[in-house]
Amino acid sequence: MAAPAGQASSGDFDKVLVVDFGAQYAQLIARRVREAHVFSEIVPRDITAAEVEAHRPVGIILSGGPASVYAEDAYDLDPEILALGIPILGICYGHQVIAHGLGGDVARNDVAEYGRANLAITSDSILLRDLPEEQVVWMSHRDAVARAPEGFTVTASTPDSPVAAMEDPLRGIYGTQFHPEVVHTARGQEMIKHFLYEACKARPLWTHASIIEQSVEAVRAGVDDGTVICGLSGGVDSSVAATLVHKAIGDQLVCVFVDHGLLRKDEAEQVEATFRSSFHMNLIHVKAQDRFLDALAGVTDPEQKRKIIGETFIRVFEEIAEDVSDARFLVQGTLYPDVIESGTADAAKIKSHHNVGGLPADMELKLIEPLRDLFKDEVRAVGEELGIPEEIVWRQPFPGPGLAVRIVGEVTRERLEILRAADAIVLEEVRRAGLYRELWQSFAVLPAIRSVGVQGDGRTYAYPIVVRAVTSEDAMTADWARIPFDVLERISSRVINEVPGVNRVAYDISSKPPATIEWE
Ligand code: XMP
Repeated sequence: MAAPAGQASSGDFDKVLVVDFGAQYAQLIARRVREAHVFSEIVPRDITAAEVEAHRPVGIILSGGPASVYAEDAYDLDPEILALGIPILGICYGHQVIAHGLGGDVARNDVAEYGRANLAITSDSILLRDLPEEQVVWMSHRDAVARAPEGFTVTASTPDSPVAAMEDPLRGIYGTQFHPEVVHTARGQEMIKHFLYEACKARPLWTHASIIEQSVEAVRAGVDDGTVICGLSGGVDSSVAATLVHKAIGDQLVCVFVDHGLLRKDEAEQVEATFRSSFHMNLIHVKAQDRFLDALAGVTDPEQKRKIIGETFIRVFEEIAEDVSDARFLVQGTLYPDVIESGTADAAKIKSHHNVGGLPADMELKLIEPLRDLFKDEVRAVGEELGIPEEIVWRQPFPGPGLAVRIVGEVTRERLEILRAADAIVLEEVRRAGLYRELWQSFAVLPAIRSVGVQGDGRTYAYPIVVRAVTSEDAMTADWARIPFDVLERISSRVINEVPGVNRVAYDISSKPPATIEWE
């Protein structure tokens, strides 16, 4: 079977299935497995033994989760999965599922065990081989395995968990009550590697170089001689997707970069320099600043601004795409978490899509999604391997409507200039202080008020700039960043001295919720 266009043909890698009993646990396990260079895929907990076999996995990991195996709505696992002869590692809830399913006992502990626990290794073990006899592991459970099923050896315990780890190497089944996937279990990654390399005999072939090689082959196999269009924003996802596709099909790729005039300082030049000058891509740089700014003239309502920008963007993209001859494919930077979250993990990897992002209905474009198998950290690593500059690969998220949602009130050329200059200083100082990567986002905001100041001999009546910097895992929640005062001081004095029209700098100390990250 031909590999689906754009997706690394994961059939060529040894694969471990992670059965999802609790999403955040499953994703972390899947990432740890990949860090050990073995491909992993998350599958729903109602997967059948036959479906498991169809994946041809070399191993299965049952994730942790919030349920109790005795609860009425307990998550059942198809019992035949335990009898397939494929090596299995159960973690926390998964450990209890194994014990419960194979005739051991799971009991409710008097005390829940949360956080650090001291693990003592009590027997020879494949999973815990070459690890210290005593070590700290991380627990999060109330139920615990009280008696291991027949055939299993108890290999470790903690004061509150008599069966903290167990294994039956003959059947290839392993379980840990603790979480080896979290960083607080200091030697956890070694345990995962023991499972992968020794129990599953998995080969560590999932490297960034091989992901690139396979993706390139997959794109070549899926794309005939049609033209492929890619909307390039300068963000990490579209940049890595475009570069992978370009590596595969060269000039058949046409990248469209719409400059809506709401970009940050030097952003358009950087996209030009990287993709046209260094990578020699076909790049259509649409300079649509006037069109966007004219459409935004006089508009102050945040939602209306967003709507105008969104619609104008689609119209511009559509006009360009219509002019590209023989356009039959569209690159999208969909990532693996989007795939898992939309519950379409098994959906076709390449599908006909009408009206993609508002494109005309009569333009039938097939989607190419070269990042569909990858987590964000893998996308960044692949981007680095492809030689994409650090400023792009490690770029903080930037909203589609750009600086327009950071200017409260009307977006004018003059106000854009003020914000752009202040924002460049914020980013420069954040980078200089070595904080750029640890902050989720850091930027300047221009409110629609002015205040009195005194500069030189004169009174000023000018705008303030608000500095916003947050830490976050996923943008759903965020905390204001505790930026050192001396960094804030440098930002403040530089912005006031260097940006005409600004006489005051404030720091936003609101978390999300109740505030949002962006001001509009
Ligand atoms: P808020 O402001 O809602 O933002 O806390 C959450 C995250 O989403 C980004 N953001 C956007 N990204 N198009 C985007 O691609 C948008 O219209 C948009 N609005 C907000 C924001 O920068 C933050 O990372």
